[in-house]
Parts: sequence; C-alpha cells; structure tokens
Amino acid sequence: MMQVDFRIPVNPVIQPPPLVEEVLDADERDALKARIKALMRAQDAVLVAHYYTSADLQDLAEETGGCVSDSLEMARFGHAHPARTLIVAGVRFMGETAKILNPEKRVLMPDLAAECSLDLACPADAFAAWCDAHPDRLSVVYANTSAAVKARADWVVTSGIAARIVKYLHRQGHKLLWAPDRHLGEYVARVTGADMILWPGACVVHEAFKARALAALRAEHPQAAVLVHPESPQDVIAQADVVGSTTQLIEAARTLPNREFIVATDRGIFHKMLAAAPGKTFIEAPTAGEGATCVSCAHCPWMAMNGLRKLLHVLESGANEIHIDEPVRVRAQRSIERMLEFAAAEKAGRIQLGD
Ligand code: 13P
Ligand code: SF4
Repeated sequence: MMQVDFRIPVNPVIQPPPLVEEVLDADERDALKARIKALMRAQDAVLVAHYYTSADLQDLAEETGGCVSDSLEMARFGHAHPARTLIVAGVRFMGETAKILNPEKRVLMPDLAAECSLDLACPADAFAAWCDAHPDRLSVVYANTSAAVKARADWVVTSGIAARIVKYLHRQGHKLLWAPDRHLGEYVARVTGADMILWPGACVVHEAFKARALAALRAEHPQAAVLVHPESPQDVIAQADVVGSTTQLIEAARTLPNREFIVATDRGIFHKMLAAAPGKTFIEAPTAGEGATCVSCAHCPWMAMNGLRKLLHVLESGANEIHIDEPVRVRAQRSIERMLEFAAAEKAGRIQLGD
C-alpha cells in the first residue's frame, strides 16, 4: 500500500537559480588546476565530486587521488580517506553528509548555496511534525535532505540502496514514512510492496523528463537501451531497461551490449559514461514534451554552481566550511551509519534479501 500525503504544504515556489556553467579556456583551466593541486597538497585535502559536476572537477578529482561517484560512494569514500580536509563538489547535503561522518575533518564546498529541490521541499520542523503524527511508522529519508531531517529520521538511504533497505524493513514487518522524493518513493514502494506514506517532494531535474516524448525517441532508436534514474516520474521509469543510481546507470552503459543509450538523468553523467563505454552513443532523454517546458533541461543548476574558480577561492580563503551543531550531527550520524552498516553486512553476506 502506498499513498502520497498531499496535505503536506511542500513549498510550491522552489525556484531553481538560472543555470550558469563555468566556461574556461585551456590556459586558465591549466593555471587553475596547477594552483589548486599545490594548495590541496599543502592542506592535505582530497576532492570528492558527484557525477553531475563539471568535467573539469571530475577530472581534477581523479587526477588528485579523489573520487567521482554517486552520493552513497561519496559518503563512503570521504569516511575512509585519511585526508584532513575533504572538498565536496556537489550539493549541500553531500557536504553535510561528509561532515556528519567526519566531524574531525575540515569539509569545504565550492559554493554553499548549491542546494537541492528535494532538501528545500522538506523543512525539518514540518518533517518532525509528520513523524510525530505517525508514531507507528519508521521514517526513511533520502540522502537529499538536511542534517536536521536526517537527525529526526530512523534511516537514511541513497538511490543506490533504497529499495534493498526498504525491502529489508518491510520483511521485518515495519510500515514506513518516506521523504522527500515522491517519485523515488513510488518506485521503491512498487518494487518492494512496502506500506509507505510519501512526502510530496520532487527533483526539478528528473521530474522534467517526459514519457510521451521518450516513447517517440525510443521509436526512432529501437536498438537503444533506456537508462533512468528513479527520481523520474513513473511513466518514464516504466520505459526503462535499467533503473538505478548514477553509478548503476554508468555500469549498465559499460556492460550492456547495446551501442546506443537514451539516458534520463542529469547530462553531467555523460562525461563518465563516455569514458566507461568508449565508442557507444548517449542520447539525452527529452525534457520538453508537447506543450511542456523544462525548468532545468537535464542539468541541475545547483550542481553547476561548482567550478574550478570557486574551488581555488575556498582553498585560498578557507571560506565555505561546513559546520553542524553537535547534537544534530550525532543523531544524523546514527541514521547514516545504519545505511553504511547495512551495505557492509549485505556485501559480507550477513544480510541476504534474494532478488
Ligand atoms: P545518486 O545517489 O544516484 O548519485 O543521486 C543523487 C542525486 O542528487 C540525483 O539527482
Ligand atoms: Fe537535487 Fe535533483 Fe539536483 Fe540531484 S539533480 S541535486 S535531486 S535538484
């Protein structure tokens, strides 16, 4: 059983900022990277970047021994790495997650205004009131939430592990509250059969993918496999050959025999997909179907706020450090660590869910 709780007044006017991407010529890029690398060495810093950030940041992360990954692996990598400073190129909840797991480290972000429409749609006080109104249910929140929401939740999950954790909780007989992404929640409820009440938030990027236009594109490319991130609407997910986190979609691009792919997620991922599957063709899934307009056109405007110039600025100035109140951090850490412990237990075979 699953229902979206539309009584919750999700902010109807979440206005993403205009999409502004950093443009650099080769000389400036090289000069910035050389200066950043020297400062990172001097400050014992490592760069953890999401797949939706610019190709320059992704390349720099790899050239300097950092990582480019989905939000689950970003959390794991930052936790395991010995560097004293973590630089998180992504959106604010990713920097906060790094700080929650690594209180002793300095966590910097290129731009603290890099938000996420899901995080913005779920204020901590409203979320706490919702939990209080449903004391018989465990709360599971997506990683795309503030530290305060994570602190109130029982479990934190990322898209890469959401369905498995919900399946596990469902098998133990729990009924769930899910926040804030209703599309991911609907997908997870359908594949697990769990009893879930859903917060009505959405990602402005993925919600813009259009099912009818996608069907038309598939007809033009009948050999193409369709890769879909589960923050997309159900009628888009229904057309997918593979539904998964960003890492899972890149892996599908690499391993499936198809030469062509239609991809319903942020186009920043194409940089890694092309590297993982050279010679294959990647086509953006349509975001503007008949009469519709896209807000973000398959690129997250908050992710685009990250860039090399801002990264250099934070290393030079020490600006944009993440701070979290200690009682909130401790409670949020408990909810995130449940997820990391679940992942480790599953990998070690201590938890077996089957298909
Ligand atoms: P992943 O965990 O799949 O990287 O997703 C994070 C995100 O913000 C997608 O929009
Ligand atoms: Fe949030 Fe969507 Fe941007 Fe991901 S793509 S950070 S879910 S707004």
